[in-house]
Amino acid sequence: MERKWWKEGCVYQIYPRSFYDFNGDGIGDLKGITKNLEYVKELGASIIWLNPCYKSPNDDNGYDISDYRAIMDDFGTMEDFDALLEKAHSLGLKIIMDLVVNHTSDEHEWFIKSSSSKDNDKSDWYIWKDQKNNWGACFGGSAWEYCESRGQYYLHSFSKKQPDLNWENKDVRNAVYDLMNYWGDKGIDGFRMDVITMISKDQSFPDGELNGEYGDSSKYTNNGPRIHEFLKEMNEKSISHYDWLTVGEGAGARVEDTLSYTDPKNKELNMIFSFEHMNYAKPQCENNWKEDKFLLPGYKRIYKKWQEGLDQRGWNTLYLENHDQVRSVSRYGNTTTKELWKKSAKALAVMYYLMQGTPYIYMGQELGLTNTCFNSIDEYRDIAAKNDYSVMLSRGFSKEDALRLLNLTSRDNSRTPFPWNENGGFTTSKPWIKYNQDISFINVESEKKDPDSILNFYKKLIALRKNSDTLIYGSFKLLEEDDESLFVYSRTLGDEKYLVVVNMSEDIRQYKTEGKVVLSNYDDSTDVLRSWEAKVVKEK
Ligand code: GLC
Ligand code: CA
Repeated sequence: MERKWWKEGCVYQIYPRSFYDFNGDGIGDLKGITKNLEYVKELGASIIWLNPCYKSPNDDNGYDISDYRAIMDDFGTMEDFDALLEKAHSLGLKIIMDLVVNHTSDEHEWFIKSSSSKDNDKSDWYIWKDQKNNWGACFGGSAWEYCESRGQYYLHSFSKKQPDLNWENKDVRNAVYDLMNYWGDKGIDGFRMDVITMISKDQSFPDGELNGEYGDSSKYTNNGPRIHEFLKEMNEKSISHYDWLTVGEGAGARVEDTLSYTDPKNKELNMIFSFEHMNYAKPQCENNWKEDKFLLPGYKRIYKKWQEGLDQRGWNTLYLENHDQVRSVSRYGNTTTKELWKKSAKALAVMYYLMQGTPYIYMGQELGLTNTCFNSIDEYRDIAAKNDYSVMLSRGFSKEDALRLLNLTSRDNSRTPFPWNENGGFTTSKPWIKYNQDISFINVESEKKDPDSILNFYKKLIALRKNSDTLIYGSFKLLEEDDESLFVYSRTLGDEKYLVVVNMSEDIRQYKTEGKVVLSNYDDSTDVLRSWEAKVVKEK
């Protein structure tokens, strides 16, 4: 398998709004990131993914961009960005940016022009129709919004302030490649590409299968007819000019699709964020809040399928959290006691981090941050949370039930301020969103001092993978496939072999391993696996 820096590195994701507030206005900013780059370096990560920091009216926290060549006022200036990139590089850290080009903000000059009349040089840059179909938008309501000045509807897959670009138009595509090259020439190290598998739409715009009031568009917008052609063109006109990491968000991408996206001979992307493992038994608001039961064998088989499916040809991403997901220890671990919280956060880390693929850590995950108790809808900030809440109330949920369910699902759970010390330490004023309730013991300062902390465990885990070709490039084999509490797999390269054993439960189990234990969340190793025990064994 070909060696690549982006296969070997560890990506640390920073949500700039919540990392560190340098100027004291309650909002994280670029200077705040620059000031704290050493923290990322000490953790052992080598690549930083920044959520969008371009100019934006912030309808969806920066995923609605009004100028791709300027920095969001809240976050600072282009000088601040240049200083951040320079310092990161001097520390040996790479920076990848978020590329949001399925849609722009409705305040982008392209859209202002396009919406002004039917006859202007950008009139075809967005998706305009005289008639709308039944598609629903991801953030609620119809995916079409009427525009007086054109007497037409425009498509917005997300909020109405996020109109979808028309990728059928060559000028649109070239404008995107230009802006990518603008950042490439500045020296960034790649892109995470927002909902990139949605850019090619079925041009007949058929009605979707009804799901409540609106039709489901995903069949006609995900992995669409010209997606591979567009990505190959993007690769030729931009990506191939640089030594980049490229990772596409691929909500609906299956293993077969992902192979096409990531097989190097297709010259498209390096890797895809697949969602199958995230969507497994996910509590969700769609379909009236169903909560499927989490069963470990089903969950493990998803990993097996992806690990085996991409081996030797494509490349996987490994992640449990990001700015759109809830905190993993709250979702999969056990937070009923401090002891179990700590053990289960470490066990989850071992479980996902040592498979084949590039590992991503979302800020706060390395501290074991938990979901946040928001007491009223006013404490939420996310447009999706507010929408879900009103949908639930309209379907007859009580306020208490709606809040309880939001707590299990809201993206705001992962967007609370990063806790630097027991008082928070993120800002000197009032943070834009409230802190998590547990920061008195889940924070950087306390965890740095505690040798047994989740933070210090992550450091060891990151170092272990970094120094092992087998853990990076080795083949993956799932063992004990039907076991309902153990997640066990091996990684093999040449004649070297590691065994990763994780007890994903409180059950006490007999399990004998042979070889040297190189990492464990217990002090000793026995023939018994204790509650949430995780160990990495070098068999040979
Ligand atoms: C992606 C982003 C999410 C955003 C959406 C629309 O899923 O990760 O945060 O709301 O796209 O851009
Ligand atoms: Ca600030």
